[in-house]
Amino acid sequence: MNQPKRYMITSALPYANGGLHLGHLAGAYLPADIFVRTLRLLGKDVAWVCGSDEHGAAITIRAKKEGISPKEIIDKYHNEIKDSFEAFGISFDLYHRTSADIHHANSQEFFKTILEKGEDLEVKETEQYYDEKFNQFLADRYIQGTCPKCENEEAYGDQCEKCGSDLSPTDLINPKSTLSGENPILKKTKHWFLKLQNHEEWLKEWISKGTLDGKEHHDPKTWKNHVLGQCMSWLEGGLHARSITRDLDWGIKVPVEDADGKVLYVWFDAPIGYISATQQWAKDNGKNWEDYWKSPDTELIHFIGKDNIVFHCIIFPAILKAHGGYNLPTNVPANQFLNFEDRKFSTSKGWGINLADFVSEFQNFEGANEALRFVLTRIMPENKDANFKWADFVDVYDNELVNNLGNFVNRVMVLSHKYFEGKTPSATLVRDENFDNLVALTQKCIEAIQSFQFKVATKTLMEISSLGNVFLQESAPWKIFKENPEDPQIANCLVFCAEVVKVISILIEPFLPQTAIKIQQLMNFSTSQNGDLQTLLNNLEAKNALIEEGHTINEAALLFAKINDRKDTTRKEIIDRQVQKLEAILEEEAAQKAAPVKDTVSFEDFSKTDIRTGKIIAAEKVKKANKLLKLTVDLGFETRTIVSGLAEQFTPEEVVGQTVLVVVNLAPRKLRGIESQGMVLMATNGAGKMSFVSADNDFELGQVVF
Ligand code: MF3
Ligand code: ZN
Repeated sequence: MNQPKRYMITSALPYANGGLHLGHLAGAYLPADIFVRTLRLLGKDVAWVCGSDEHGAAITIRAKKEGISPKEIIDKYHNEIKDSFEAFGISFDLYHRTSADIHHANSQEFFKTILEKGEDLEVKETEQYYDEKFNQFLADRYIQGTCPKCENEEAYGDQCEKCGSDLSPTDLINPKSTLSGENPILKKTKHWFLKLQNHEEWLKEWISKGTLDGKEHHDPKTWKNHVLGQCMSWLEGGLHARSITRDLDWGIKVPVEDADGKVLYVWFDAPIGYISATQQWAKDNGKNWEDYWKSPDTELIHFIGKDNIVFHCIIFPAILKAHGGYNLPTNVPANQFLNFEDRKFSTSKGWGINLADFVSEFQNFEGANEALRFVLTRIMPENKDANFKWADFVDVYDNELVNNLGNFVNRVMVLSHKYFEGKTPSATLVRDENFDNLVALTQKCIEAIQSFQFKVATKTLMEISSLGNVFLQESAPWKIFKENPEDPQIANCLVFCAEVVKVISILIEPFLPQTAIKIQQLMNFSTSQNGDLQTLLNNLEAKNALIEEGHTINEAALLFAKINDRKDTTRKEIIDRQVQKLEAILEEEAAQKAAPVKDTVSFEDFSKTDIRTGKIIAAEKVKKANKLLKLTVDLGFETRTIVSGLAEQFTPEEVVGQTVLVVVNLAPRKLRGIESQGMVLMATNGAGKMSFVSADNDFELGQVVF
């Protein structure tokens, strides 16, 4: 498609049964937000919808386990997720929900239309596992048993995570319901199956060549390799009928007689949710939703994570085609996964950070939410998995946002006030290679965004700021001023710098929308409107002045405050707290890895060991031994010298006064030339962290321990 008239953009509907973490934000929402904000700034007609995915077995099961209704779960998380999106500036045109009536009606219409066409649905009777205690058929994920291929006892009904084989529930040996833990029974049921095999041929053409009905639909070279790869390997495996109904009481009722207790499969209704949300948005805003979904000059783009590729590139297109009349996506720029400090995010283990928790933890760190947007974009898992680290957050923030961008904007403002009282002086516009570079970088940034290369785009934005910094440094107006305060070079330099700030103030909006507003206010530019980036581009290309002579800017203020600031440690402390939480988890995990039990000793042998209560009354480091402390231990009946390997974890001051248990009949031995006359008992966890084993407070020294 050459010049699309409008854009329909979607982001994967998050399940409303848990909060979102950084990985979700970086996967399907932040890239879409940057993309959509750019389109709006270019004056394009664009609708961007999302919403909560509120059906599915996972939600009903969670509700059953917690003894509350599914409605309570989805309301709670719908609101939490919506708030998180707002906090991070995710600017959907509508954040809808699949429990809405309009969506139920729409999904049922899809099902009925496909059914009535008579080609793509078939009813089949099957036997399925049923949990008699919970009175429900079990989704594949809720059955666990032994893998027939590798004997892993914790394989799931759809997949063995150990050997990677695809399974179906009846393949499992000794299947168990994860709800009740009991063996499920096989029970007859009937379901509607979508005959995906009917769609194999055209899907292959469409994915590999970008042609649809013999016409060019999109250029497959614009699709990401990993997306094409996943689709092709699926298609090569051959397509088969897939059930699109489930036996559940929560969901969208299957709209035919004789389907009591059956609902549409969540992956059938959820993507239709994009359309329902658009219908609602159109209704609220006086638009025609069909323009966005059916007009051939609309481009449809789905932003998702890689686990959703097959659904968006194969199954949903097949549903749309089976229904008829709808556009198919022109691109599905799926992102890969984001890891957190070298591991997968895990809510249950507390590994990672929820967006809602981030907001509350960072509330005293002004601008933290935007900083997170920037850092996540900088490391975005566009083509391969990426890794979030707090240390990188600090580096990127301090070096790029504070030192490069923030500093540049601030210097321009300060110098403009110093030399021209904040008024744009009359000047000869700099239109040399510096200006050409500014134009080229601006174009490059926009093109990168439009081709889903968000990492390149952020880098390019920083290059614009660097260009300004280098130009200012090399022009050195402060030196010229010392020699001749009237030299016109000073005005020329500062006006060009202000032009660079002007470009940044608009181009930064997709990445850091609040910062854009802040710069615009400080510089007294009007806040950006739809189309402003296009106007800017036109002005750049025509080499027009970007700022009027006499334009007055406001007092300078800092855009960002450093994390590693010597005076104000607020931000550093917040980051340190995050790091400490992770360290605590690692320690705890190590502690749980119990050491193996040693060989048995007889009671007689054991009772030869004489253990007594004691107290450390003096301690000093042993010279040239990092680990050793020389302790003086009072045993009541005598005082001993004991050399102990505590020095890495305790200072001498910390151990003096500590009550301890001491093996007093251990043969003396020399350590670093000091005779050690016994051993102090210590407990260690799996991470090697030591703690003292001591007697009660009111013990007497020298008591026998048995
Ligand atoms: N809820 C799904 C997930 O989190 C995504 C649904 S995307 C949609 O994996 F297309 F179905 F809406
Ligand atoms: Zn296996």
